[in-house]
Amino acid sequence: MILSNSEPMALTNTVLSALSSNSMFVTKEDIMGCIAGDAPLFGCGKPITPRNKKHHDIQVVTETDVTGQSTCEGTIEDLARFFQSRYSSLKRLIERRRDFGIAMPIARAMSLDRETKIIGIVSDRAITKNGHMILTLEDDSGICKALISKDSPLIGEIIVNDEVVGVAGKRAGNGGLYIISEIFRPDIPFNNAWVPSDTSSKVAFLSDVHVGSRTFLDSNWKRMIRWLKDNAYDCELNYIILPGDVVDGIGIFPDQDKELDISDIYVQYETLSEYLKEIPDHIKMVLQPGNHDAARPAEPQPALSEVFTKTFDSNVIMTGNPVNIRIEGRNILTYHGRSMDDWITGVQKLTYDDPTGVMKEMLVRRHLAPIYGQKTALAPEKKDYLIMETVPDIFVSGHVHGAGVMEYRGVKTINASTWQSQTDYQKMHNFNPDPGIMPIVDLGSGRVNMKNFMM
Ligand SMILES: [Fe+2]
Ligand SMILES: [Fe+2]
Repeated sequence: MILSNSEPMALTNTVLSALSSNSMFVTKEDIMGCIAGDAPLFGCGKPITPRNKKHHDIQVVTETDVTGQSTCEGTIEDLARFFQSRYSSLKRLIERRRDFGIAMPIARAMSLDRETKIIGIVSDRAITKNGHMILTLEDDSGICKALISKDSPLIGEIIVNDEVVGVAGKRAGNGGLYIISEIFRPDIPFNNAWVPSDTSSKVAFLSDVHVGSRTFLDSNWKRMIRWLKDNAYDCELNYIILPGDVVDGIGIFPDQDKELDISDIYVQYETLSEYLKEIPDHIKMVLQPGNHDAARPAEPQPALSEVFTKTFDSNVIMTGNPVNIRIEGRNILTYHGRSMDDWITGVQKLTYDDPTGVMKEMLVRRHLAPIYGQKTALAPEKKDYLIMETVPDIFVSGHVHGAGVMEYRGVKTINASTWQSQTDYQKMHNFNPDPGIMPIVDLGSGRVNMKNFMM
């Protein structure tokens, strides 16, 4: 049976690697199991079923994906419900902290003369001329001005508009000011950790491909494809996620047409689908839109419409942005990262050079885009999809074209590079990308390899 196959050695290796380590004999069924399947076992001399006879184990967590679930019409009621949903979800996370307990309504806390804990949405924040910080905190029961003294160790805390914070403190005298002594964030639990598993599957990330741009890194992309063809099967790289800006789009910034190679949006997506067909067939892909894509700009973004995706192979799963994906027991949160512009503009300490530093602030707040009314348009859906309800194992973003990896309380936090070199527009804005890098994460051990295709 083995010798009648066109590639007997390759088949033998596949059969051997499919056996469990305590197999005593190789049976006819073992071999037939490796030959069976809908697809031919060998394409271009390479097996195309997942290694170890393992089936793909990948699932979109549908309640985190707005695709097909959008209800918002932008009414005042929609907005009120959206912020209510944000407040109650994040309040629940703060109250889950062992060091917090149950919050007191703001109106009641402001009537008492003792230490209290409250949870509010930050509707405003200001620095007084003496250097104190004044927050306006709001909940269902009322609103208060809360002060962080310039002498408090908390004065350096990053606080952004529209985030939800828990605070401990006490009202000052019988006046209308609440003095903050402690701050509690929803945060990732302190003891959260990456627990190794026995899978040896890998997931890779290709962010901000920007097909259609004149600065698309064609030769580096091809080098990456060659590497996948030669190695992906053997190293069990079975999944690839594309976190948005998959094409350059049209009319995204002034004079973009001068920087385009492909000025037809449909042709941009067709070209991308051709590029992805080059990726070995055993790899399952997930593709979500970013701000350059042909999806509604307001977040959460639904998946790309079929008019753009009909040329893609069935091994590409289209999702919204953001979304959680479950792969072989791991929870992967993938978010294009548009809100990083607002984080970086709004918070002095955060910079484009350190995207994972921005992502850490999102994890601390369990919110991807708290700031309302800036560059990141937020659609007031019936719930706030930008909240991290669950703790991800991997949190990946793109958008700022950086390449970085950092671990925060067990969460692998990755900015997944780009396949576009510096554009004139970026040069004008002094924006230096870090292109041609494909982060690969081992889903078992959690090891991250930032595979560089620029050398
Ligand atoms: Fe981008
Ligand atoms: Fe982007």
